[in-house]
Amino acid sequence: MDIFIPPKNISRICCIGAGYVGGPTMAVIADNCPEITVTVVDINKDRIESWNSENLKQLPVYEPGLENIIEKTRGKNLFFSTNVHEEIGLADIIFLCVNTPTKINGFGAGKASDLRWIEICAKEISTHAKGSTIIVEKSTVPVKTAEILKDILNTRLDEKSFTVLSNPEFLAEGSAINDLQNPDRVLIGGEDEASIEILSNIYTKWVDKPKIIKTNVWSSELSKLSANAFLAQRISSINSISAICEKTGANIQEVSKSIGSDNRVGHKFLKSGPGFGGSCFQKDLLSLIYLCEFYNLPEVSKYWEGVIQINNWQKKRISRLILEKLFGTLNGKKIAILGFAFKANTNDTRESPSICVCKDLIEEGAELYIHDPKVKATQIDKELTDEQYKKNESKRWHFCENIDLALQDCSAALIMTEWEEYTKIDWSEKEGLMLKPSWLFDARLVANINNLKKTNINYWRLGNKIIANKGTNY
Ligand code: UDX
Ligand code: ADP
Repeated sequence: MDIFIPPKNISRICCIGAGYVGGPTMAVIADNCPEITVTVVDINKDRIESWNSENLKQLPVYEPGLENIIEKTRGKNLFFSTNVHEEIGLADIIFLCVNTPTKINGFGAGKASDLRWIEICAKEISTHAKGSTIIVEKSTVPVKTAEILKDILNTRLDEKSFTVLSNPEFLAEGSAINDLQNPDRVLIGGEDEASIEILSNIYTKWVDKPKIIKTNVWSSELSKLSANAFLAQRISSINSISAICEKTGANIQEVSKSIGSDNRVGHKFLKSGPGFGGSCFQKDLLSLIYLCEFYNLPEVSKYWEGVIQINNWQKKRISRLILEKLFGTLNGKKIAILGFAFKANTNDTRESPSICVCKDLIEEGAELYIHDPKVKATQIDKELTDEQYKKNESKRWHFCENIDLALQDCSAALIMTEWEEYTKIDWSEKEGLMLKPSWLFDARLVANINNLKKTNINYWRLGNKIIANKGTNY
């Protein structure tokens, strides 16, 4: 294992995991490297079938620009398959893009990452790989995971050899194709310089060389966790300020603009909202916190815990505010929820702030009418149906195909995702659908304010003073 002789020609890549990371990443590699055959494998048959679906609208991941690339490459040098073992055996490079969720049980539960899928893959690779193979960690993993991978791979070295590289993904959902095509940087961590060069040569087909950062494995793994922690921290920081704005009469958009105008801070990631969601931020923060605890750094772990605490508090304070404005009871009241995805331009609902707020409102007796242009009713069902809600005989939420159905006879509407179509709602037209007094709670600051001013709708915009403008003394 000490001397790794890398494969001479890279003609085949196998990616294990056909999810949000694996699918789009491999599509972009295949598009830029027509000489390489890229196969994405998954144990989930349905997912692979969807990736192979004739109808491109049925792809399991919605990303602007993805359908185009799939159309160009699928069946030429991009394939989706369930033949995991066979493809492992054929590959020169294997990307690991499997899920690494937070552990639910046992030591480190609620914080540490669950590496069982990584371990299963490592065992399968050690059994089925042939010759020398470069293993690339793409999934976000705790620092030192490469060590675990190496230990497992080393158990079967009959005529095979492996090297492990860390090449974390920085794509954000909704802009994944652009992020992959025009990355700020590509990070490659490893020990074997020749293998790093091989992976780097794949990226330089479309990425400028200076953007490729080469580090040791641990720096690369830690950089990914830290990058997400820094981004999440910016969101919690601005969200904490949004609450002060509401108390004082300052305006969060103005404050955010002023802060971001300092070049050292910059404008990005300073949008106040209902709290960060998505599969990465919370999970990676928890993983970082666990790492700090493991290395006996309690002050550091507390610092990062604060970022999660503010995020949870932001979601709770929205639910509490709605309850307060609707006279302290939501029993039997219809509330329209506009947006269930964790952000716009994705159908992903993982850790979406909508989940937490919807559950709170249901708990208070509200009846929810949920609209989202991309999330399916079955997905919402999965997120809102936990043991507690299964006990409820009657379903407390309904899926609405259009905005009007959601708004019909509602006491309040709540915007949770910044979908473009919500920016275009003409509230003076919708006002008649809603019960009086009606409320709009805009947690994304997307509703057309001039248009709202012309209505009798009372409104709350995150990080702004409440406007209960129609003579009612709220
Ligand atoms: C994130 C990282 O951006 C990406 O680099 C990493 O690889 C994966 O995790 P993603 O979760 O897809 O990507 O989305 P992102 O755009 O980062 O948004 C995460 C959450 O933060 C969303 O809920 C979003 O609405 C929220 N957010 C983002 C804000 O509330 N305000 C902002 O200014 C930016
Ligand atoms: P991510 O957002 O990181 O891409 P997803 O959950 O969307 O995460 O996708 C991970 C995929 O990895 C899932 O489709 C899952 O079925 C697949 N997977 C997990 N373990 C294995 C395995 N041992 N072999 C093949 N596929 C796997």
